[in-house]
Amino acid sequence: MKNTYNNKIAYAILAAGEGTRMRSTLPKVLFDICGKTMIEYVLETVAQTDYAGKVYIIVGHKADIVKDAILKSSIDNKLKQRLIFVYQKQQLGTADAVKQLNKKLPRCVKYLVVLSGDVPLISPSTINRLISLHIEAKVDCTVASFITNEPTGYGRIVRDISKHFVEIVEEIDATDAQKLIKEVNAGVYVFSLPQLWSAISKVKPENKKGEYYLTDTLKYIKSKQAVQCGDAKEFKGVNSREELTEVIEYVRHKIINNLMRSGVTIMLPQTVYVDWNTKVGEDTQILQGCIIMNSQIGRSCVIGPNSYINFSNIGNNVTVTYSHIVSANIGDNCSIGPFSRIRPETTIADNVSIGNFVEIKKSEIKSGTKINHLSYIGDTTILNNVNIGAGTITCNYDGIRKHKTYIGKRVFIGSNVNLIAPINVGDNVVIAAGSTISKDVPANTFVIARTKEIHKPNHRIVKRLLMKHNGENDE
Ligand code: UD1
Ligand code: CA
Repeated sequence: MKNTYNNKIAYAILAAGEGTRMRSTLPKVLFDICGKTMIEYVLETVAQTDYAGKVYIIVGHKADIVKDAILKSSIDNKLKQRLIFVYQKQQLGTADAVKQLNKKLPRCVKYLVVLSGDVPLISPSTINRLISLHIEAKVDCTVASFITNEPTGYGRIVRDISKHFVEIVEEIDATDAQKLIKEVNAGVYVFSLPQLWSAISKVKPENKKGEYYLTDTLKYIKSKQAVQCGDAKEFKGVNSREELTEVIEYVRHKIINNLMRSGVTIMLPQTVYVDWNTKVGEDTQILQGCIIMNSQIGRSCVIGPNSYINFSNIGNNVTVTYSHIVSANIGDNCSIGPFSRIRPETTIADNVSIGNFVEIKKSEIKSGTKINHLSYIGDTTILNNVNIGAGTITCNYDGIRKHKTYIGKRVFIGSNVNLIAPINVGDNVVIAAGSTISKDVPANTFVIARTKEIHKPNHRIVKRLLMKHNGENDE
């Protein structure tokens, strides 16, 4: 039965506003909420309702950027085919935004469902309910309302003494008595056509903001209802960064709970942020203070405390402690940190140990290798079972270009070695501590490159030292 309505229903999503109160160069509907933009939430919800139908997105402020972001987003392709972008030249208000659809909708459309791009958490079931209540009641407009103890910022639902819905008064235009009303406009409506068009043509910008309010159409629509469906959380409108944070917090909580239900332990969950684009395997523990985005984490890992992981794949049974990992692949049974930095285009195989204060960039590290302390490894390939001593540096940059380092299997590099790239070090090489190596080292070679060491007993410098400490008791 619901399918019979598909041609009769169209959706309008208001997304043309600048979002002045965000004070940002980014259009408001493109703000990120745990890995998806605000408008993606609204679009995904529309895709899940029982009523298909074209989706008209009204864009204006930075229209091309908004349109591009939507088309490039990961929303379902079927939904993308339902989208039609409509341009609102000047942001004269929500009524003017909806008015852009007049004469653009096919004649068969009888109901227009209006949603706001900045009300991201609305659920498909609420929209379904609103539509079916509207059709059943045979009214010209159904407004979703909700009761809140914090009505500030929302339009108030004004009812007469017999509780009949009369009008919506915007906060800025409300009297002190009206401001006390706790039933507010969610910004989600179903309008019957063509009644909407005649009402919208009567709306005037006679209010404190000087805008054409969509809510003023209710003054000209007699047959209407305001229905309380859904809850305050799902109708949260995002106008400021504080409100954005509230919405992010709600979504974050939901993601964390989903993870825990799927077998992930999360310590101090209030300090952990994981986005929708991240998957975490069973029996992994995420300790406090972690931020994990766009990543895949395997089973039985221990991540954290205080680690940042983005655009990375991490295998099973890996520990990541106080570390920063971006665009890297890490195999199974590795240990990363504390205090490691793994930079983009790095691939680390299984059973690798990367220790404290080690930075790795654009490098490939094969299995069994250990880089345990204070190293910089850049543009480097290191084969299996290599031991890199403390303080080893690949000198990959000559001030103009980057050069590559290659280190063969089972190489043992002592502490504080500089490898001046481009350089190849063959299999089974041993490099003495403190060496600066600038020539290729063939396989099976021991190499030492230090200046000659000179010892001078009772040198005058030693005597000076002794004089300075003369008479001191250092027992
Ligand atoms: C609006 C409602 C208010 C309701 C609240 C719910 C009006 C006049 N007020 O207020 O009753 O309680 O939503 O969240 O409608 N937009 C355009 N073109 C414009 C102006 C706005 O596309 O010319 C878009 C915005 O990008 C935004 C949406 O419409 O996505 C709502 O506009 P906004 O200015 O945020 O309205 P509110 O003040 O929140
Ligand atoms: Ca708003």
